[in-house]
Amino acid sequence: MKLVKTVSSTISISPRRNGIGAEISGVDLSQPLDDDAFSIISNGFQQHRLLVFRGQNLSVKQQVAFSERFGKLEDFPDPKDQADGYKTVLRVSNIDRATGKIKPVNDPGHKSFTLGTSSWHIDSSFRTVPSLASMLYAIEMPEEGGDTMFADTTAAYDALPENRRAALHQLMVVHDFEETRRRHKLPPRPPEVQAATPPARHPLVTERENGRRALFLGSHAAGIDGMNYEEARAFLDDLEVEATKPEFTYRHQWSSGDLLLFDNICVMHQAMPYDLANSRRLLHRTTVAGDKPLASVE
Ligand SMILES: [Fe+2]
Repeated sequence: MKLVKTVSSTISISPRRNGIGAEISGVDLSQPLDDDAFSIISNGFQQHRLLVFRGQNLSVKQQVAFSERFGKLEDFPDPKDQADGYKTVLRVSNIDRATGKIKPVNDPGHKSFTLGTSSWHIDSSFRTVPSLASMLYAIEMPEEGGDTMFADTTAAYDALPENRRAALHQLMVVHDFEETRRRHKLPPRPPEVQAATPPARHPLVTERENGRRALFLGSHAAGIDGMNYEEARAFLDDLEVEATKPEFTYRHQWSSGDLLLFDNICVMHQAMPYDLANSRRLLHRTTVAGDKPLASVE
């Protein structure tokens, strides 16, 4: 454990035993952070890519203030998905905001969101400029289930043999939101909706500013330049299995007051099942926008 004393607090960073992510304690995120405290958290995030803060008590406004320290936040356009009217805060929930009741399990929007997030994914990887980071803050959680799995694709990349890595460097992957729907046998969205989120191409292996490399994968990955669909699907599926081996993953069992910050380029995530019809689950998500397309290795 690394202890760092700042003017306002003593922040400790405890890397998880298998090296996937770290736990941060000694910081109250509801309060404005001085620059020293923020730089410790920011450096910890660069190093570990997934940070777990427990026992927080945050208003929507306070979560936004902390999130904005990392950069500009993305907007979530649909008012019924926004928390307390904040367009930068997405309700991740089975609870209808208007009624406060659990949504019908077969509500089409709810069903497609639940199915989509049950796959390993990177939020919005189908955008030309991917999102940098996402933050999930737990408000109401089921007694059982509803965990989130995280897979660190930097660790997965590092574990590949050198010749295997080199073969991946040249590959360009098409990411298409429709692919996730196809894989869950959901009907395609209307053409005008699809047109608003066209597919994007990204390098399979990307290099971050700190020199670390990662596999950019996830359920929206729909094809690879130079391969037919079946070939690419099999290739991507095999690589996903490798990248999500237990040694590269962390399973978070949520308690209310947990806040997780994760790199949305080097870390895939996946929502685990819970009793959708009878258990209430509410998290607030904020997402830090990217500012440029992904860099390739060569
Ligand atoms: Fe997600």
